[in-house]
Amino acid sequence: MSRIVTLSARRVYDSRGVATVETTVTTESGAVGQVAAPSGASTGAHEVQALPEGGVSKALREVAERVRPRLLGVEVADQVGVDARLHESDGTPDFSAIGGNTATAVSLSVAIAHASEARRPLWQVLARPGVRGTVFPAIVGNCLNGGRHAIGGPDIQEFHAISSAKDPSDSVRAALEVHKVVGETLHARWPTHALGRGDEGGWVAPVGNLEALEILSEACRTVRDRLKLPVAPGLDLAASEFYRDGKYRYREQALDAEGQLDFLVGLVDRFGLTYLEDPFDEEDFDSFGKLTRAVGTKAMVVGDDLFTTRLSRLRTGVDRKATNSILIKVNQVGTLTDTFETVDFARSSGLTTVASHRSGDLPEGWLSHLAVGIGAAGLKCGLLGGERAAKLNELLRLGGAHEG
Ligand code: PGA
Ligand code: ZN
Repeated sequence: MSRIVTLSARRVYDSRGVATVETTVTTESGAVGQVAAPSGASTGAHEVQALPEGGVSKALREVAERVRPRLLGVEVADQVGVDARLHESDGTPDFSAIGGNTATAVSLSVAIAHASEARRPLWQVLARPGVRGTVFPAIVGNCLNGGRHAIGGPDIQEFHAISSAKDPSDSVRAALEVHKVVGETLHARWPTHALGRGDEGGWVAPVGNLEALEILSEACRTVRDRLKLPVAPGLDLAASEFYRDGKYRYREQALDAEGQLDFLVGLVDRFGLTYLEDPFDEEDFDSFGKLTRAVGTKAMVVGDDLFTTRLSRLRTGVDRKATNSILIKVNQVGTLTDTFETVDFARSSGLTTVASHRSGDLPEGWLSHLAVGIGAAGLKCGLLGGERAAKLNELLRLGGAHEG
């Protein structure tokens, strides 16, 4: 293996047109790794700080002054050493000095340079013990948007097709078909309305929460019948975003935690939901646990804002049996090593993982390698838009999709 000889950083823009940090790492043998960090809109309170005070400009100065001197000369295969040096150059518990997005870009750039140096696919460099890359994640595909990603739509942030065929090319096909059928239904219902798409490529329409869920679950049923593939409805409620003064404030109703629990258990039964992300406020471990027990194996209960990919939060969640699954976003913790500590603990505790994009993302495919490398049960990467298609298409390449 060879050493890191250059590290550079620049300002680029994500799918929302928001500035972010991109870094490039090269090794003495000429291998290159280059990545830009994605960023969230409905960020969890416990995520590391995405950028330092002073934004991207400050982050770029920090790379030059604090990070680069520590990384030049380090073995590109030494991911743990690289990530420890990122923490050392930052010196805070939440990456507030250099920015979690800066750390994410550097950490991933190094992994990509390592894979290129070793002439191995990235997923193998990221693979956790026992993962052989033969099982592919279900697609968690965003079909309809609300919440912070689509003002004027439902309060629930994301309505997903959970597409779980064995072959990723079937999963991708079925999820895209659900998106299309949802669009056809919306157009038929509002023939003179201009319908839009939200930050993650799902439809935006002036629908209520239950109405949206009816349209989604009907579309899933249509696609199941049409393609004979397993696809079911799921939600990312991002419930902290509409939880105020002890109540979940939907446009149709306001529910306390007990009411929310009953409401959600009812939705699982009525619509056959198989995926519920952030169904309660990000501090309410107990309600998460009640829901997880109530739904049993019928649905994945996934903690995103609840855990923010942080090991300490996950430990609390496991102690309290809060969920059966965890969302994994590298830039919620800042480095691959931190991510892997959380992933390994989740796996050894019997939780499944879901590798996730951010609402502001880039046309890069590393997330699909991460999903395969950690043996994720799900890949949450949206369906439409270049930055989402890049991940689906990379999964197809990993799945060996070929014709002729
Ligand atoms: P974010 O949302 O990237 O805006 O945080 C995505 C999610 O909540 O899963
Ligand atoms: Zn979420």
